[in-house]
Amino acid sequence: MKKLVFATNNQHKTEEIRLALSGQYEVLNLQDIGCDVDIPETADTFEGNASIKSKYVVENFKLDCFADDSGLEVEALNNEPGVYSARYSGGRDSLENIQLVLRKLEGKLNRKARFKTVISLMLNGENHIFEGVINGVIRTALSGSKGFGYDPIFQPEGYDVTFAEMDMAEKNKISHRAIALRKMIEFLSKS
Ligand code: IMP
Repeated sequence: MKKLVFATNNQHKTEEIRLALSGQYEVLNLQDIGCDVDIPETADTFEGNASIKSKYVVENFKLDCFADDSGLEVEALNNEPGVYSARYSGGRDSLENIQLVLRKLEGKLNRKARFKTVISLMLNGENHIFEGVINGVIRTALSGSKGFGYDPIFQPEGYDVTFAEMDMAEKNKISHRAIALRKMIEFLSKS
């Protein structure tokens, strides 16, 4: 079976994709191929960062690969935190990142935001890009304890709860990541 690397160390994400592509591809993650380098994400776009990771694996391991990069874009903050989502407040503390977003939005009426995922799939030397977006609003206070990152302040369009109040299974059906992954899986099933 053809091998496809997912440039992640997240075992849970790997299992999900492995299941979705079973019978079609043998999905390996960074650990499986013995890649323990912290690939630097130095681009200023999601597409750029995802492509850095997928191309690193292709160049160094000669295997087809895909990588994802995600983050939160807040309209009234010129789409910040964007690619800096994980370290917006300087560290990786989610609560501090959330508090910074809430502080910067104080007094602003426009609370529109979106989560975005971009996947770069390097297949036979060509870079294919897939994007997933979910629109929503930023609440004025935290609500819910599930999920991670900015989930407690993000309320997706059409819902009256935050991502952090939703069941994981429900969030994973509608999320930016799920949308981008579905697009890639559909593409792979046709190619
Ligand atoms: P990654 O590229 O998937 O590692 O995401 C980068 C950062 O964006 C994370 O560390 C979070 O701060 C934020 N983020 C991405 N996806 C989500 C999500 O589904 N919920 C909350 N925060 C997210």
